[in-house]
Amino acid sequence: MLWRIIRPVSSAKPFYITTPIYYVNDRPHIGHVYTTTIADIVARYHRLAGQQVFFLTGTDEHAAKVVDAAAERGMTPQQWADQNAKAFQDTFARLGIINNDFIRTSQDRHKKQVVEYIRRLLASGDVYVGEYEGWYDAGQEEYVPENKAKEYGYKSPVNGKPLVRKSEKNDFFALSKYEPQLRELLERGDFVQPEARRNEVLGRISEGLNDVPISRTGARGWGISVPDDPDQTVYVWIDALFNYLSAIDTDELRGCWPADVHLIAKDILWFHAVIWPAMLMALGLDLPKRVYAHSFWISEGQKMSKSLGNFIDLEKIDHYVETFGLDALRYFLATTGPMGTTDSDFAEAGFIEVYNADLANTLGNCFSRIANMTNRYFEGKLPSKSSNPYASSLEGPAANAAFDVQQVAAKLDLAQMAAHALQLVRNIDAFIENTAPFKLAKDPAKLPEVGTILYNCAEAMRIASVLLWPIMPSKMQELWRRIGCDHYTQALADHGTGKLSEWTQWGQLSPGTAILQGEALFPRYQAVK
Ligand code: MSP
Repeated sequence: MLWRIIRPVSSAKPFYITTPIYYVNDRPHIGHVYTTTIADIVARYHRLAGQQVFFLTGTDEHAAKVVDAAAERGMTPQQWADQNAKAFQDTFARLGIINNDFIRTSQDRHKKQVVEYIRRLLASGDVYVGEYEGWYDAGQEEYVPENKAKEYGYKSPVNGKPLVRKSEKNDFFALSKYEPQLRELLERGDFVQPEARRNEVLGRISEGLNDVPISRTGARGWGISVPDDPDQTVYVWIDALFNYLSAIDTDELRGCWPADVHLIAKDILWFHAVIWPAMLMALGLDLPKRVYAHSFWISEGQKMSKSLGNFIDLEKIDHYVETFGLDALRYFLATTGPMGTTDSDFAEAGFIEVYNADLANTLGNCFSRIANMTNRYFEGKLPSKSSNPYASSLEGPAANAAFDVQQVAAKLDLAQMAAHALQLVRNIDAFIENTAPFKLAKDPAKLPEVGTILYNCAEAMRIASVLLWPIMPSKMQELWRRIGCDHYTQALADHGTGKLSEWTQWGQLSPGTAILQGEALFPRYQAVK
């Protein structure tokens, strides 16, 4: 168990990043794909920077609706959960996600640990038996406070179904006792991000904290029984939150705790920013370092809904991947996604615009120019960087890009990560325009200058590609193949780590290296009329 082990001081703590564990009743859609892809980008960035990473995602399976859905199909809850958890696993694998583990709350390894955590929680003195009566949102597995229920017209704000009046005798966690510590935790600064979300949570804490049920009755045999009290089942949210601990509570992985980032969306912030840290406090465990709550995707200007038929579901996601490539989807999610406090619109026109402007016309086109000229003027071999007016012209912009990307990556600002790397590519383009190597090349005496220009361009492009790898791993690996940098790919394979600071140093490409032209990395997209 976690609290029995003292972490060895010598080994550096892995960077531990998590996503929510998703309800198995839904089919995976863009919302789930987004959070997990963003986590993948952050995880890859840390690996690129040389850090060991543990990246966890998974499924939340003990909801009551799983029992109903399974019964409707003549299946057991486990069969239904197996089928849907597989859909999430397959989807993430297909989308190039390289999570270290996929936890399912119906797995024995999780259930066994939860029993222990609950035992400890019961022994902490912060749990009491009480009666609860309130409005319940069955779809969300969540009690809704009276004022909110009224505001929502006694309907679920998520699926519109009527809230149900429910009363239960349950085990309660004395959340209210932790109000001062929670307030202090949130006021301290960067525990909850972005800032505006932190203020929302603080505002809600000021309205007062209610104790929360941690068990429920009538679970029909699906869930985790409270130790020594088989009538009570661990409340699905408490069961779910513990996944972040149970997955790493092994001799090998315990050192991952505390989590560096719990990446979630705004819908489940209260559980992560308030209930979860209070439970950890009661257990005497370290708190996660940060909870980052992004906003929501809407689609074609409207909230995604089944009735409007504008859900970005798996079929639509596949369509984008087939048409534009997986890395283009990742780039779009990273650059236009709702990491801030406003929702983002997933619209086809916007996707095409970003794809053509940034990927086809800028990144892909710039690489083609460099490769074409190297092939035309230097038989495809990277020329040497003789000293002439152009030596190291792009060294400054490349160093700035590398520095800026590191600054914004620490803030999980993925759009700016991409923007700084793309800025370097634009600098290369501007440099080509200003120096006009295609004109200089007409005079054989000027070839050394042309060579120096191209060396600069290729070197800056190499650095941009390293910075873009977390967002577009396959395309950047393809680019590395064409500039003789396959060793980066090898270092990063199988959860390996890179050397970001070394790889972004100027002057790593050896003159004479073969530069391969190949097909366009991002062919321009023309809508079929
Ligand atoms: N099972 C709980 C989470 C337990 S975590 C201990 C749950 N599951 S969920 O399937 O509803 O997933 C919610 C999460 O999915 C959000 O927090 C977010 O990460 C992602 N998204 C779902 N819809 C989304 C959008 N429309 N846009 C962006 N992300 C969204 O809640």
